[in-house]
Amino acid sequence: MVWDLKISNGTVVSGSEMFQANVYIKDGAIGAITNETLEEEASETIDATGKHVLPGLIDTHIHSRDPGPTYKEDFAHSTRAAAAGGITTVFEMPNTTPPVNNAANFDLQKENLSQKAYVDFGLWAICIGPLNNANIKELNAKGVIGFKFFWGYAVHKETYQLMYNYKPGMENVIPPFDDGDVYEMMEEVEKTGKLFAVHAESSELIQKLTDRVEKQGGSSYEDLLEGRPNLAEVLTVAKGIEMAKASGVRFHVLHVSTKEAVDTIRDVQKQGYPITVETCPHYMFLSNEDYEQIGPQMKVYPPVKYKKDQVGIWEGIADGTISHVCSDHAPHTEEEKDGDLWSIPAGMCGVESMASLMLNAVNDGKLSIKDLVRLLSEEPAKLFGIYPKKGAIRVSTDADITIVDMEKEMVIKRENLHSKSKVTAFDGFKVKGVPTHTIVRGKIIMKDGNIIGEKGTGELVISGSNKAGVVS
Ligand code: DOR
Ligand code: ZN
Repeated sequence: MVWDLKISNGTVVSGSEMFQANVYIKDGAIGAITNETLEEEASETIDATGKHVLPGLIDTHIHSRDPGPTYKEDFAHSTRAAAAGGITTVFEMPNTTPPVNNAANFDLQKENLSQKAYVDFGLWAICIGPLNNANIKELNAKGVIGFKFFWGYAVHKETYQLMYNYKPGMENVIPPFDDGDVYEMMEEVEKTGKLFAVHAESSELIQKLTDRVEKQGGSSYEDLLEGRPNLAEVLTVAKGIEMAKASGVRFHVLHVSTKEAVDTIRDVQKQGYPITVETCPHYMFLSNEDYEQIGPQMKVYPPVKYKKDQVGIWEGIADGTISHVCSDHAPHTEEEKDGDLWSIPAGMCGVESMASLMLNAVNDGKLSIKDLVRLLSEEPAKLFGIYPKKGAIRVSTDADITIVDMEKEMVIKRENLHSKSKVTAFDGFKVKGVPTHTIVRGKIIMKDGNIIGEKGTGELVISGSNKAGVVS
């Protein structure tokens, strides 16, 4: 037999151990992990001496807007960016046009993205209350990764596009769902055993406070935070927790931005409830104090908060309250982001810079490389029901591998990003620790920053239900 690929002499890392080994790959799967040199030849060899060999990194939260406003981003661009940044699997958010709201649209999306994907992908489904409660079961059977609910967002009547800056009285808009609607969605998703994941910000509070600040003529970042305060997040998190306890749904808080929410979730986890939470690099590495230098590029929802929140988030990472880190890659064009802080859209690129920022944090002593593997690969795979096919370097699992050079230095530059939009808060950030190879099911997609893989290589990843027998 001839191996397809050999990764020689690297340090293989999992969430719990690290050892020197050669990794042999055949037919897209890992065939052997050994400190010996096997007799059989390999068609191709990567010398990983001095490098770390990680299970392929997973970004569980990206918005490629495809189909939809693809002038901002599309799946070919976002997955090239993912590959450039060492990511082997992405989970695509469902706020597309059409959204992933029923089985037929799931199939359309699978078809659409399969033709464009440079890396593997999973699909989130959207929850839009009474508009698709009846479709939750079929979406689960299709293998969606989880169910996303944009709590507090209004949606367009025909397209179900999210309305980012909703004001009561807007035309052709379905206003944000009420608690009764949310509870019913939870009941439906509970039957699948999959995650009910929420964007947690109280729209009632935000509307009232933002209106007030705007009327006073406020236009600074501090004003934005006054209109969209920490309370907006923790209110919704606390309510969601109580509703999750009652409904039994697997509640997951997306992109946490406040210390208060992290502390609340820690407490409920201690009581034994399986409630989970993720965060993103911008909440780990930025605070309001960076706005002066970075400017509107760093506007995201929920907004980046204060230094004490950054500290609280790091505490949540250190003690395991926070399950994993994802990018919330949500590009808008440069033109759209160039305006007054109230009216510009929230969101920025993230999928390409996440791994390097995290590797840099390892070099800074904030994390261990095993922690990084846990946060960017192992836990996401476990949480979303695709482990150990993904998230592990183990014989017979998918040969998804990210090789990193912990000594290599790089400056993140907007012009080097592979996304359509170049909007990032991290332009000019110096990092030490860079992915050098992205390997998806044995195929080298990125080598030394160059994309050498092909469009359409990525395949859909199916998540089984956590409840036996639900997926038919
Ligand atoms: O900043 C954000 N951008 N937050 C969201 O919730 C949505 C996202 C987007 O799609 O632009
Ligand atoms: Zn998002």
